[in-house]
This record gives sequence, C-alpha cells and structure tokens, in this order.
Amino acid sequence: MNTFENRFAGKVAVVTGAASGIGYAIARRLIQEGASVLAADLNTERLDAIQGELGERFFGVKANVTVENDIEEMVSAAVKQFGKLDLAFNVAGASRAGVITELSEKDWDFTVDLCMKGVFLSMKHEALEMAKHGGGAIVNVASLNSHVPMYAGSAYASAKAGVEMLTKNGALEMARNGIRVNAILPGLIDTPLTAELLSNADIKEAYMERIPMKRAAQPEEMTGPALFLASDDAGYVSGSSLIVDGAWATTGYPDLSRWF
Ligand SMILES: NC(=O)c1ccc[n+]([C@@H]2O[C@H](COP(=O)([O-])OP(=O)(O)OC[C@H]3O[C@@H](n4cnc5c(N)ncnc54)[C@H](O)[C@@H]3O)[C@@H](O)[C@H]2O)c1
Repeated sequence: MNTFENRFAGKVAVVTGAASGIGYAIARRLIQEGASVLAADLNTERLDAIQGELGERFFGVKANVTVENDIEEMVSAAVKQFGKLDLAFNVAGASRAGVITELSEKDWDFTVDLCMKGVFLSMKHEALEMAKHGGGAIVNVASLNSHVPMYAGSAYASAKAGVEMLTKNGALEMARNGIRVNAILPGLIDTPLTAELLSNADIKEAYMERIPMKRAAQPEEMTGPALFLASDDAGYVSGSSLIVDGAWATTGYPDLSRWF
C-alpha cells in the first residue's frame, strides 16, 4: 500500500472504534501520513497496546459512542491533547442479528443506538469543534447494507441506511461552516466483527458466490478510500457515499435464511 508521506502533517483526527479492525487501520495510516490521532473505543486494553505501537501522536480514550457525555469528552480530549480538531472518522459499530419477528426491542436498540445514534452524537460534537477553526472533514463508516438488506439484519441495515442519510444531512447543514461530510460503504471486510461468520465454510461460500472479487477485503483496504474523502483532493466532495465492496453491490446479498 502506498502511503502519502505527510499528507496529513499537522492535522488532528478523531477515530471512533479505533481499537480494532477498520478503525485501527485508519488510525495507523493517519499516523503514518503525519496526523495526530485521538482514538476512542470501549476497549482500553487494546488502545493502550496500540499507543505503545504507534507512539505519542496516538492518544486513546475510553468512550461509548452512544453516550453524549463521552463524545463531548472525546472531542475535548482531542483539543486538550493536540490543540484542535480537523478530521473525524466515525467507525464504531456492531450488530445483534435476528429476524424481525424474533428480534427483541433491546437488541434493536443496541444496534440502532450504536450504529446510528453514535454517528449522530459524534458528528454533532466534532462539527461544533471543527467550526471554531474554519472547518474540517468527517467520514462516516456506513455499509453496503445501507443499500442492500441482509436476512436477520434489519436493525443493522436500517441503521446503516440512516448513517448514509445522516451523512447527506450533515453535508447540507455543515457546508456553511467549511465542513465536508462523506461516507464509505464497505462490503465484506476481514475483521473481528466478521471472524465468526467467515469461520463457517458454508456461510463463507454463500458470500463468495455473490462477491465478484471472490474475497473479503483486509481492513487496510478501507483506509485509502476513507483518507481520500478526508483529504484536500476531495475538497469539492461532500454528501457522497463511496462503495468499497469488490463489486458486490452488482449482485446483491446471499440468501442467509437457512441459517436462521
Ligand atoms: N467488517 C465488515 O465486514 C464491515 C462491513 C461494513 C461495515 N462495517 C462497519 O465498519 C465499522 C467497523 O467495523 P469492524 O469490522 O472494524 O469491527 P471491529 O469489531 O473490528 O471494530 C469495532 C470497534 O468498535 C468498538 N466499539 C463497539 N461498540 C462501541 C461503543 N459503543 N463505543 C465505542 N466503541 C465501540 C469495538 O470495541 C471495536 O474496537 C462498523 O461500523 C461496521 O458496522 C464493517
């Protein structure tokens, strides 16, 4: 992977969900390209380990993205630690599966709060801070499921569709403050989130039948698209969704109904 040396030199970024998978890959590449990163996650043990690996331009804080006070403190920590906020990557997410007729209210709330409210709260406080210094760029991590339903994934797909609309609404409202807001829509990525799924050979085969590139992506393959949207090269790009899925959107989701 080609990194752009110093593309983000002097920039300060917040990354939620930075202790694992896509968030960790984004944080690592931002550091490689010169940025300072305030990393937020529930998993402080991993954040501590990553701090040891990435050095003093990485600072981890415990934050639950569904709790507004945590998000306010996350943004304050970025300013306290690094002086300002230029970029934000709202990555934290997870899902509790179940067909609609069996999905509990609790599991619906867990998924929708984490995937959608978490992005709303993050955008709100990131934008308030960015506006103080002439603007910035926000990149939300939605999903191919923003466009394509998934059997037993109603809460997740609905929340991710919501993230895409939040992205457009944010772009509309925040342009006047010099803030661009975009989303990436990943397909199937090899992270701890999908490890159990991909360890089932039958399920993996069902996915591969539908993914024209016949493989899951590595989390690092999300960093180029995400960092492009945050960079000056995307200076006139706002309210966009960039699908990063190995052409999967051309074929639709596998039929997972036999596993439920
Ligand atoms: N892996 C995929 O195939 C895939 C596909 C499309 C979209 N996505 C999205 O990408 C994002 C990252 O997923 P990943 O695959 O890297 O998962 P991951 O499980 O590897 O990482 C998610 C991180 O979010 C953190 N997190 C969970 N709940 C949190 C909370 N309430 N507050 C703060 N942090 C919290 C976790 O501790 C973890 O470190 C998610 O939004 C996911 O929905 C993933």
